[in-house]
Amino acid sequence: MTKAAEQKKEGPSLETRLGPLTLKNPVIAASGTFGYGEEYAGIIPLGSLGAMITKGLSLEPRKGNPPPRLAETASGMLNAIGLENVGLKAFLKEKIPFLRKARCPVLVNIFGATAREYADIARRLSEAEGLAGVEINVSCPNLKAGGAIFASEAKSVHQVVSKVRRATSSFVMVKLSPNVADIVKIAQAAEEAGADAVSLINTLTGLAIDVRTRTPVLGNITGGLSGPAIKPIGLRMVWQVAQCLRIPVVGMGGIVSAEDALEYIIAGATAVQVGSAHFIDAKAGLKIVDGIQTYMRINDISHLTDLIGSLKIRRDSGPGA
Ligand SMILES: Cc1cc2nc3c(=O)[nH]c(=O)nc-3n(C[C@H](O)[C@H](O)[C@H](O)COP(=O)(O)O)c2cc1C
Repeated sequence: MTKAAEQKKEGPSLETRLGPLTLKNPVIAASGTFGYGEEYAGIIPLGSLGAMITKGLSLEPRKGNPPPRLAETASGMLNAIGLENVGLKAFLKEKIPFLRKARCPVLVNIFGATAREYADIARRLSEAEGLAGVEINVSCPNLKAGGAIFASEAKSVHQVVSKVRRATSSFVMVKLSPNVADIVKIAQAAEEAGADAVSLINTLTGLAIDVRTRTPVLGNITGGLSGPAIKPIGLRMVWQVAQCLRIPVVGMGGIVSAEDALEYIIAGATAVQVGSAHFIDAKAGLKIVDGIQTYMRINDISHLTDLIGSLKIRRDSGPGA
């Protein structure tokens, strides 16, 4: 049997590569929406996901923001959890033993107040072994730059990624914020500083008001908007960034179905993350994997890599055409 015939018999290959990391399929559970994995382990086999990313981790434990922390919006939700987490020490002791047995690559989403804090966490996680790498959340205030968000300046993104790069030889992905003027510039800074991949988008800053009390709905006043409402923005940014970078781009923002995931892949994403959809259906990730497989079978696509960045654009289309 020829290789092509063998592939057809086995079904399409959903395998994808994020630099040094090979995933059996492109669907990753997004940080902050999948706990530390153990919360979902009784509901879905974690091994059927391409990878999972744990809740944002800092050196010290954090209690997070005052309630209410969640608000439903049209086609989405606002959250202001405030990066509540158990802290590095408890993570190493209590969470890693389970994660080592997860049967899918596990990335740890990390954040800090200084570039050095990011690097310290990355180094201690790589020494712990059993994890696939880190996802750097740069949407945090930079203490050294007077509280400006790391993510909003190419210079501070470069600084934090270089420091993490020197601290670990494990896989490093940089999660970009959409709350910036030029996402491509920030992505290029991450690539130049040695990132293995970038992921985008994080939430968009929003506000909800209760007109009866004339007070903000969220305890933190503002929150991060996620869900289907942000998909067109995520798609546009992934498309722009993928054209300008050599490293892989992981797309997210509003993915609830296989079709949403396919849109991101066609726009140039090498893999995708599923976030808020988990709050509606804990099995969303699994269903998306199945749906991608079905689409590939129906359309006679044997390798996912053939779909990545396959967007067809007519020569006479585009802004100003
Ligand atoms: C409740 C909640 C908590 C989140 N926590 C984190 C986090 O700790 N670190 C991070 O980088 N992103 C966090 N995110 C952002 C998501 O990982 C994702 O980037 C965003 O929600 C967009 O994807 P979605 O529309 O599929 O939810 C959080 C999102 C939600 C809804």
